Amino acid sequence: MAKERLDKIIASMGTWSRREVKELARRGQVTVNGAAVRSAEEKFDPETADIFVNGEALCYRRNTWIMLNKPAGYLSATEDGRGETVLDLLPRELRRLFPVGRLDKDTEGLLLLTDEGGLAHALLSPKRHVDKVYYARTAGRLTEEDCRAFAQGMSLLDGLQCLPARLEILSAGEESEAHVTLREGKFHQVKRMLAERGKPVVYLERIQMGNLPLDRGLSRGAFRFLTELEIASLRALV
Ligand code: URA
Repeated sequence: MAKERLDKIIASMGTWSRREVKELARRGQVTVNGAAVRSAEEKFDPETADIFVNGEALCYRRNTWIMLNKPAGYLSATEDGRGETVLDLLPRELRRLFPVGRLDKDTEGLLLLTDEGGLAHALLSPKRHVDKVYYARTAGRLTEEDCRAFAQGMSLLDGLQCLPARLEILSAGEESEAHVTLREGKFHQVKRMLAERGKPVVYLERIQMGNLPLDRGLSRGAFRFLTELEIASLRALV
């Protein structure tokens, strides 16, 4: 792999900013292949260099994957003049990542971000059948008939053609709760499918993507890196 600046390599892991790396290096707290490197501008091959920061080995990952617990009010975009994006919730070093698919501004929950375009794209392809699971609260009483309509694959009045999906009712009343499982992610799809059934969504949260559940240890707005095992399990899906 091509050589890169030491501050860039270390900052890309998300723990330290480039400024912090410069300072740590200046104080002799960064070693590469056993020797202190005091200038963070020096270049190394991140895949072969043995880098230690504060005595701890840096486990370099070529690609970065994070799980964000998205709060309402943020756009799943990398840039938008109209408001805050999910990137505003991340440290500067991670703002090069892009969201894997989109959640509406008012939708909360699991959003993956990465710099690995190929796998991100594959996970979103309807051909791969990667399930996305949502928790939805609706106005109106959900019924078994709604479940059957979802299972058959709905043809919406607005022209949207939907693959068969799963609607699992958790509670039914004036307001109902359900889990919705889709293998595709068309624009406002859950809201449009439920609106078509006359049960508009009043709250929506994504709770799972493939075999990866939303980490309930993450408060809204918080993120964490995926483990190697989690990344491998995403790869195994496609
Ligand atoms: N379906 C929706 O309607 N909105 C989302 O944010 C995600 C799926």
